[in-house]
Amino acid sequence: MSKPDKKILERIKNLREQINYHNYRYYVLDSPEISDAEYDRLFDQLVELEKKYPELVTPDSPTQRVGAAPLDEFKTVRHSLPMLSLNKATSEAEFLDFHRRVLELSEAQEKKIKYTVEPKFDGLAVELVYRKGTFTIGSTRGDGVVGEDVTLNLKTIKSIPLRLLGKNLPDLIEVRGEVIMNKNDFERLNKQREKSGEPLFANPRNAAAGSVRQLDSKITSTRPLNMFAYGTGRVEGKRLSNHWDGIQFLKKLGFKVSQHVELCENVNQVESYYDKLLSIRNNLPYEIDGMVIKVNEFELQERLGELSRSPRWAVAWKFPPQQENTRVKEIIVSVGRTGALTPVAILEPVRVGGVEVSRATLHNEDEVKKKDVRVGDTVVIQRAGDVIPEVVKVVKSKRTGKEKRFVMPDQCPVCGSKAERPPGEAIHRCTSIACPAQIKENLAHFVCKAGMDMDGVGYKHLEQMVDKKLISDQADLYFLKKQDIMKMDRMGDKLAENILDAIDKSRNPSLTNLIFALGIRNVGYHLADVLAKTFQSIDNLDKQSIEDLTEVHEIGPIVAESIYNFFHNSKNLKILEKLKKGGVKFPREKVKFKEAPFSGKTFVLTGGLDSFTRDEARKIIEDMGGRVSSSVSKKTDFVIVGKDPGSKYDKALESKVKTLDEEEFKKLIQR
Ligand code: IVH
Repeated sequence: MSKPDKKILERIKNLREQINYHNYRYYVLDSPEISDAEYDRLFDQLVELEKKYPELVTPDSPTQRVGAAPLDEFKTVRHSLPMLSLNKATSEAEFLDFHRRVLELSEAQEKKIKYTVEPKFDGLAVELVYRKGTFTIGSTRGDGVVGEDVTLNLKTIKSIPLRLLGKNLPDLIEVRGEVIMNKNDFERLNKQREKSGEPLFANPRNAAAGSVRQLDSKITSTRPLNMFAYGTGRVEGKRLSNHWDGIQFLKKLGFKVSQHVELCENVNQVESYYDKLLSIRNNLPYEIDGMVIKVNEFELQERLGELSRSPRWAVAWKFPPQQENTRVKEIIVSVGRTGALTPVAILEPVRVGGVEVSRATLHNEDEVKKKDVRVGDTVVIQRAGDVIPEVVKVVKSKRTGKEKRFVMPDQCPVCGSKAERPPGEAIHRCTSIACPAQIKENLAHFVCKAGMDMDGVGYKHLEQMVDKKLISDQADLYFLKKQDIMKMDRMGDKLAENILDAIDKSRNPSLTNLIFALGIRNVGYHLADVLAKTFQSIDNLDKQSIEDLTEVHEIGPIVAESIYNFFHNSKNLKILEKLKKGGVKFPREKVKFKEAPFSGKTFVLTGGLDSFTRDEARKIIEDMGGRVSSSVSKKTDFVIVGKDPGSKYDKALESKVKTLDEEEFKKLIQR
């Protein structure tokens, strides 16, 4: 087993943060920022690293859960039987592998396995509990064990019976199924939203999920939703022995079940069903992304059991992504909330799998170059279920010679500031914190607890302040008057005073909080603290060169460059000036020691020390106001030489830098 170093730990932490963030966007906000393929790439990287360093797997790692955490605002519901997920097959061979495993694990005499086959709906999985025939609780799948209580919302869906049909109803039945939105309803809804300036849903699935997980059930009631029942959880007071009968029973109880469910006697029938379903896919009113194959007999299902939250008795055989040809009219660059610049192809509108597509992401500069996409090109685009449409390839044979190459701008198209692409990264970013595309997110970061700590100033307030043009950057907050705040919706005297009070209280931040609040790329709270301790004031920090910054322990070239760029952006400098004018105190970090004996001194450590580890020695030096650098230069004041010193010792002798042995160092620090 290899031993992880700091870089690996950082990478794992960073991946988890990114995955958690994108999980949150996707599952909690229903508004993904990246494609599933990109998400999968991040996830696979984390899985790989955790495989290599199993000791670093934590219970809260995104690899350790099946879905996302429920929203705080909904009550939670524990499913009495876990809602499992499905293993995937993407080819006939993979389906046959599944079948072979089923045969192996079942008894020898069962060479004839019956499968129920059905569409794999692309919506949101829910569970409905019926007691004595009455709908009592409805929940989302959540993480498979605990979901959200969305009873009121589900009650507004007309295809969900509130009272089951028929006599001799089971005492209890938990019905599972998928809430979906039809393709034409989805398009109509998006057109309406476009008209009223609301954000568009990325696809029917997101529209269905967003509608079910809506806190106001009145809004849900206006959304055209459907539910297809595809299975049961706990059932009491009725004996069912196989899935097919279960589906027929659900139909009898008044649930909508797919008319395309079939019972197959052998694998050939399963394969023919795949071809048939694929051929009618585009004609279905709703989206499906494959078929689900389930061992029919419950008794055999039980014997096969499950493995890591997926049953061994079922598999989802996915369809290939939907593709179509169209022409690139234009390539624009959109700016995301984090300042990421994404090239987007504006297309001649085309229907892909029954949904109109007029834009497709080109991801980043390298992708555009790799695929060589030019304005005027005919391209193949695809939608893969939940993915934002993307350009797959250019149809080069259709080129006329008039196509225009795309050049990634070096300025932000929204605010005109410099756009930079940090080394080793694929994404260009706008470097200004005053960019309107980023301003709301930056404001939220600015006011948060680890930043300026404006308790009681929430995202909703900030959004309104920006939308009503009361502020356009962080510093404007400090010039707000009561009459400005009163212009906000649902604002009263008391609330306005609380907001002003919170803003006022934030005028005396610690240096660490202030640096963090500025939102310098790659500078989290810990690095903000390192910068505060090392440079002791903003006035000093903003004068450092990239080399100076890189000399600080924990600051690598990428972070150093972000810091340098931040303080060399005229818009950022203006905001800093405005903050001062607005009464924000730029503190000087007080060094804990009376006379900060090492203030301004740079040390280099080489060789092993008996009384301290490297980190302890570094901490002592930093606590006394000094700096530890990793290499000897003309700026080095002392080189501390331990046992078996390295080349830094030779360099010290060569450059005539003062050297100290361990005893001399101890004397210096009076230990
Ligand atoms: S059966 C163990 N049947 O697929 C059985 N699921 O990856 C699991 N889904 O969360 C569910 N259509 O949202 C089943 N006909 C179908 C389905 C289906 C769509 C979704 C469902 C579930 C996910 C599992």
